[in-house]
Amino acid sequence: MPLALITGASAGLGREIARALAARRWSLVLDARTPGPLRAAATELGRDTWVEALPGDVADAAHRTDLAATVASLGELDLLVNNASELGPSPLPPLASYPLDALTRVLDVDVVAPIALTQLMLPALTRAGGTVLNLSSDAAVEAYPGWGGYGAAKAALDHASAVLAAEHPELHVYAVDPGDMRTEMHQRAFPGEDISDRPLPADAVPALLRLVDERPPSGRYRAADLATGSVNR
Ligand SMILES: NC(=O)c1ccc[n+]([C@@H]2O[C@H](COP(=O)([O-])OP(=O)(O)OC[C@H]3O[C@@H](n4cnc5c(N)ncnc54)[C@H](OP(=O)(O)O)[C@@H]3O)[C@@H](O)[C@H]2O)c1
Repeated sequence: MPLALITGASAGLGREIARALAARRWSLVLDARTPGPLRAAATELGRDTWVEALPGDVADAAHRTDLAATVASLGELDLLVNNASELGPSPLPPLASYPLDALTRVLDVDVVAPIALTQLMLPALTRAGGTVLNLSSDAAVEAYPGWGGYGAAKAALDHASAVLAAEHPELHVYAVDPGDMRTEMHQRAFPGEDISDRPLPADAVPALLRLVDERPPSGRYRAADLATGSVNR
């Protein structure tokens, strides 16, 4: 059975990716910080497949080491999904007054942690000729007021993904923008607003899984393009 490590898998998009892979009988290593919802996800998905759930913060080096040890004990890693992400303060502050400790946290979770996890997983990914899926955002390429911290972090993640792909032609490395989704993070980005018109995270999953199934060239993709059949970047 193929093996995937998905960060931030207790809710939102991460949970839906895990659900879809569990239905395909992939083995799963999952994390999230809050143990209860993570355990609930593992219990649900464990009815279909083998699941190991390790609570922790992706920005915590010791937690990342635990994830790596679990993956190493299983041999090969077919898919690393760097999905866990930090939005920053809500409401989103302009850069002029962005608290720098919050900015550092956003960069730690959204850029440093995915790179650090990839470093640790490289041996297992290389053995499998695996895929790295880094969750990006339109905020990485559009200059929305208030989105400077998170957007800069996602832009950095996009670039790191591109460099990683150039350095590791044996892997497939994708940065992918899933589009707006009706999740906790999205509600925090738009506090007090009605976000019920946004699609559910499950709606983005088939497009994202095209990258895993069809393995187009490494690069940056948008779920909206993948959903309509094009793989234009
Ligand atoms: N929602 C959108 O409209 C949208 C749009 C574009 C891109 N994205 C991207 O899509 C991805 C998924 O977002 P989402 O909206 O599904 O998020 P979400 O609903 O807020 O879920 C986030 C998940 O990640 C976990 N998590 C958060 N911080 C973590 C950390 N430091 N370490 C480990 N786990 C952590 C959360 O659990 P705990 O809180 O218990 O840790 C939860 O399981 C993110 O990369 C996001 O940037 C989202």
